[in-house]
Amino acid sequence: MIVSNRLPVDHVSGEGDDAVWRTSPGGLVAALEPVMRERDGVWIGWPGMPDVHFDPFEADGIDLVPVPLSADEVADYYEGFSNDTLWPLYHDVISPPSYHREWWEAYQRVNRRFADAAIAVAAQNAIVWVHDYQLQLVPKMLRDARPDLIIGFFNHIPFPAYGIYSQLPWRRQIIDGLLGADVVGFQRVADAGNFARAVRRLHGYETRGNLINVRLEETQAEMTLRHRATARRGQPVRTVLARPFPISIDAQAYQKLAADPKIRARAQEIREELGNPRVLMLGVDRLDYTKGIRHRMKAFGELLEDGVISAEDVALVQVASPSRERVDAYAQLRDEVEITVSRINGDFSQLGRPAIHYLHQGYPREEMVALYLAADIMLVTALRDGMNLVAKEYVASRTDQDGVLILSEFAGASDELRQALLVNPHDIDGLKSAIVHAIRMPQRERTRRMRALRKRVLSHDVQRWSATFLDALVREDHNDPANHLD
Ligand code: F6P
Repeated sequence: MIVSNRLPVDHVSGEGDDAVWRTSPGGLVAALEPVMRERDGVWIGWPGMPDVHFDPFEADGIDLVPVPLSADEVADYYEGFSNDTLWPLYHDVISPPSYHREWWEAYQRVNRRFADAAIAVAAQNAIVWVHDYQLQLVPKMLRDARPDLIIGFFNHIPFPAYGIYSQLPWRRQIIDGLLGADVVGFQRVADAGNFARAVRRLHGYETRGNLINVRLEETQAEMTLRHRATARRGQPVRTVLARPFPISIDAQAYQKLAADPKIRARAQEIREELGNPRVLMLGVDRLDYTKGIRHRMKAFGELLEDGVISAEDVALVQVASPSRERVDAYAQLRDEVEITVSRINGDFSQLGRPAIHYLHQGYPREEMVALYLAADIMLVTALRDGMNLVAKEYVASRTDQDGVLILSEFAGASDELRQALLVNPHDIDGLKSAIVHAIRMPQRERTRRMRALRKRVLSHDVQRWSATFLDALVREDHNDPANHLD
């Protein structure tokens, strides 16, 4: 059973049999959907709109259990605590987090509702896999009510250093919530390390490598149950495994789309529609302040200004899909990005040849693959990002072994995609140099780098990610060396 804030589909309009649904935004759904299609199981989540009530239903072979949220809960739990407290805090306070007690109340209440929904449908000894920062209290709620369950948690976004995390007024409760899981997964080694440190600082629990010994009260019901409670130095403990499991994509699905003649023809057509620029650069992001969209535009604008490139020669397509539009920081970012695009276009475009093609829209996967195939250079310049699956999608789509990936060191993907041009997006001169390097890169070097990147992404796909996580979860003995990274 999967429990995540969003279902894989968002409700758009209509009721009952007339209801219209579309694929939900974000990397979490992109990663989990192919995994769930291949397995039996239930997905519990919010249908993406306030005040809509739906009975459980099936979509594309996946059983869905919708959890309703009222308009106030969307404001306080989703837009408030999840996306205006936790999101900026966990992304290194790029934007200042807000701390409001009413938001925290709503977060607890909604986490309880998700936990209750899971409890109601979970079979005895079921595996329940809870996802992401919106639902960090759910693992403990499940364990308290149903110690028979096997509980996993995966955090799709970064987990911050203790100096930042410790700002959170409810820092202990969140750690307690997460420690209800048997396995807590993170994107990067650094995230798992930050979590273990927070556990030591706040609870004083002993940690050994990836293992955390959670001290138990003698009276705890689970002591009488089968698993994972042992005694260390006379003190009953339950061992929690906390380690990185870097997420990935359904690489084969992207390869397949990239081989489709219709999509290849569309890639060609895109270049023609853009006036056949010599170099096409591409950015694809949710419109989020963590993605470094303005930083890449600044570098691009300065290169035009310096005369190093011209809008006739080099075009930038920026897809910025709408996201969390009612949160102030997002509305403000949209204004800033759109002012920047207008300025650059005002200064450097020619008739019929805008310097930046800015698209504030979401697109189906087929169109995205056509864009990936059309783009000579992919810009991923996140200031902080759990993984960034766009980087992996670009690589998986480049079956022609061509294209250059410029990738931020602050995206989790940079731990694996070492043959990308790695950049610090705060260093605008460094970013400009990387763009120039990418434009001038000889074909042989492009192929060599892309081949190595593809080897990594194709061998470490999302199927492998989920199998690795689930193997660790069902393995009774967390001390098993197989649970530890090489
Ligand atoms: O991966 C991070 C994440 O927040 C997911 O949890 C989420 O589904 C996705 O990004 C998109 O964000 P949202 O659900 O707020 O639109």
